[in-house]
Amino acid sequence: MTEQIYKGLAGVVADHTAVSKVNPESNSLLYRGYPVQELAAKLSFEEVALLLWNGELPSTGEKDEFRAFERSHRALDPRVRAAIDLLPLDCHPMDVGRTAVSVLGANHPLSEDSSPEAELTKAKELFAAFPAVVAYDQRRRRGLELVEPREDLDYSQNFLWMTFGEEAPEEVVDAFRVSMVLYAEHSFNASTFTARVVTSTLADLHSAVTAAIGALKGPLHGGANEAVMHTFEEIGIDTAETREDAAARAKAWMEQALAEKRKVMGFGHRVYKSGDSRVPTMKQALDAMVEYYGRGELMGLYDGLEAAMGEAKNILPNLDYPAGPTYHLMGFDTEMFTPLFIAARITGWTAHIAEQRADNALIRPLSAYNGPDERHL
Ligand code: ACO
Repeated sequence: MTEQIYKGLAGVVADHTAVSKVNPESNSLLYRGYPVQELAAKLSFEEVALLLWNGELPSTGEKDEFRAFERSHRALDPRVRAAIDLLPLDCHPMDVGRTAVSVLGANHPLSEDSSPEAELTKAKELFAAFPAVVAYDQRRRRGLELVEPREDLDYSQNFLWMTFGEEAPEEVVDAFRVSMVLYAEHSFNASTFTARVVTSTLADLHSAVTAAIGALKGPLHGGANEAVMHTFEEIGIDTAETREDAAARAKAWMEQALAEKRKVMGFGHRVYKSGDSRVPTMKQALDAMVEYYGRGELMGLYDGLEAAMGEAKNILPNLDYPAGPTYHLMGFDTEMFTPLFIAARITGWTAHIAEQRADNALIRPLSAYNGPDERHL
């Protein structure tokens, strides 16, 4: 008998979810029913997190309560700091993020408590604690000291403060906030599905998030935002160049890459085939950063690659394409881009972990054996 194989689970509907709806026909993405563009235009990332966890927009009282909670759980846990200090400076920052979450889980008094209340507390704490991990790791790689969090700043302002040790201008904070909102959730993508698989075995929340970080690291998933910047670096960033010259060099690079049958990161998507719903909003944030920093030549590279890929293969950019250069302009090292994605996606992952737990079935597909026939020693 030949079984039907759904390679990569493409086209397989594995379960219901009420967290988000991805609609490739209309290029739309809804978080709990709300278009992500509206959320990115009007809400703080903290409000979007509460929406993803609770299913409804927060009341003023809920917002105030979470504001106080989040601001008082930002400091880098000394045990996490000690674990990070054991890791070499040349390991990938995703390894640092993965280790930090694992250490937080091992030390958490509610680690084995999977009641909805305990799970929500752990999710909120992780949300509040993770920025310090990224900020400290970015700083130690530059030989800089830890910067303590500030309770007078919101999530995005404080994230940038802890990373760069100075208050970020409003334009930069806003672009950062938009990126967090857009990266927060995207249905059954590879890392979220990983979190749900681990949860389905009744393992704890930190194990599920740690595994999800492993899945996110790969360049076919979250690692693509970093890979986009490596492409720009490979082509060569020349700040003195005109936009047109940069576009021409990018076009030539893309033609060569496609002739060599290379996969160019930041393009294509398993679900969206006529454009990623999040790209126009993220592109606006990138444009704002390009204008703020006066770096038009970078958009020459951006436009040149996009045009050449469109002409040659009609493959469109995904969210990682505008996000990579946006984080570059803000001053993050390229390797730090995917840990920023973790900070955002902790919301979506933990919302899915709660949903999986509430109506669990062990996720365990079948396989079609194609090894040797039975044989004997
Ligand atoms: N560069 C070059 N060719 C591509 C690309 C790309 N980025 N994406 C797809 N193609 C081509 C494939 O080579 C293939 O061509 P073929 O039929 O001639 O062999 C065809 O388009 C279909 O591609 P698949 O990889 O089979 O499509 P799939 O749905 O499995 O891929 C994926 C989706 C993995 C995202 C793919 O587009 C890719 O590898 N993109 C680059 C990585 C990336 O940017 N990932 C980020 C995803 S979004 C996110 O995580 C926020």
